[in-house]
Amino acid sequence: EKNTKGSITWKTPSNIALVKYWGKQEPQIPENASISFTLDACFTLTTLEYSKSKSTQGGSFEVYFEGEKKDDFKPKIQQFFERIEQYVPFLNYFDFVIKSRNSFPHSSGIASSASGMSALALCVMSIEKALNPEMTDEYFNKKASFLARLGSGSACRSIEGELIVWGKHNKIKESSNLFGVKFPYKIHNNFKNYHDTILLVDEGEKQVSSTVGHKLMHNHPFAKQRFKQANDNISKISEVLKNGDLKQFIEIVESEALSLHAMMMTSNPYFILMKPNTLKIINKIWEFRTKTKSKICFTLDAGANVHVLFPEHEKEQVNNFIINELIQFCQEKHYICDRIGFGAKQL
Ligand code: PMV
Repeated sequence: EKNTKGSITWKTPSNIALVKYWGKQEPQIPENASISFTLDACFTLTTLEYSKSKSTQGGSFEVYFEGEKKDDFKPKIQQFFERIEQYVPFLNYFDFVIKSRNSFPHSSGIASSASGMSALALCVMSIEKALNPEMTDEYFNKKASFLARLGSGSACRSIEGELIVWGKHNKIKESSNLFGVKFPYKIHNNFKNYHDTILLVDEGEKQVSSTVGHKLMHNHPFAKQRFKQANDNISKISEVLKNGDLKQFIEIVESEALSLHAMMMTSNPYFILMKPNTLKIINKIWEFRTKTKSKICFTLDAGANVHVLFPEHEKEQVNNFIINELIQFCQEKHYICDRIGFGAKQL
C-alpha cells in the first residue's frame, strides 16, 4: 500500500560526444562506440508523479513542459514506455504526471533528448528502487542507462560523469552496446574541469532529426569506414585521456565533428546542418590557435551550434576571445558557459 502514490524528481545533465554515435540498429544498438563529456549547466529537471491506476488496461500519463501541458511530447514518451515495459512491468499499474523543464531555452537548438530521456529513466528506476530497496547503486545506474538508451541513444551517457563510453569496444572491456559505462581509467589532470562554452548559432528547430540521420547511415556509401574510424578514434582518445596530450585531443575531437557532418553531406538524401556562422567560428578558432598556441577546439552535435572546448588553465584568455570575437556570430549573442559534470542527482 505504501508504494501506491508518490513523486520523484531528478536533475539530469546533457552530454557532448567527443567521438560521435551516428548510425544504429534496432533496438537502439549503436554501430560504433562513442564517448562523451557529461555536462553540468545544461540539464533537465523532471518530476514524475505516480499513483495506482484505476484502469486494468495499464496506466495513462500527462506531460507538462515548463508549466504547460504538452501533448506533442506524448508520442516520443509513449514509444519510450512501450519499449521499456518488458523491463519494468510495474509501470502498467500506475498513472503518471510528468513535469519537466530545461535549464537551457527549449528552442536553443540544444538537444534535450539526452537529458530529458535520462531524467525520465531515472524517475522510473526510483519507483523500481522503492519496490526493491536492496538493489545496488551499480545495478540502479546500469539499468537507468539501459532504459535511457531505449528513449534516446545518447541519453544512456547522461546518468553519470565525467566521461562515459557507450558501445562495445575491445579496448574498454566493461563497455556494452546496452548501456553507458564510466571511462574506466584515471583521467589526466588536463581534463579536470574542462570547459564547454556552447555558442548558439541557430536557435531554430533542426530540419533533419537525429532519428532520420541515423537511418540514413543504413545505405550510406561510407558507413563501414565511418564506424571503423570512430572505433579507432575511441582507442586513440582513450590513450589521450590518460596521458593528457591536448594536441592529439584536438585532432581527434575536431575530426570527429567534421566527419559527423561529412556523413550528413554525403547521405542520400544529403543535407547540411552547419550555417555560415558555424564555419566563421571554426575559422576564428583555428586562427586563434595558430596565433596563441591555445589548446581551444570545437565540436558539433547534429546542428549548427558550436561547442567550444578548452582546459581550465586557459579560461581567462579563451573567455576573452569568445566574448570579443565569437559571440558576434551567435543568434542574439546567446551562449551558455558549461563544463564537464558529474552526472544526475535525485532532488
Ligand atoms: O541520441 P540521438 O539519437 O539523438 O543521437 C545523437 C547523435 C549525436 O548527438 C549527433 C552524436 C552523439 O553521439 O551524441
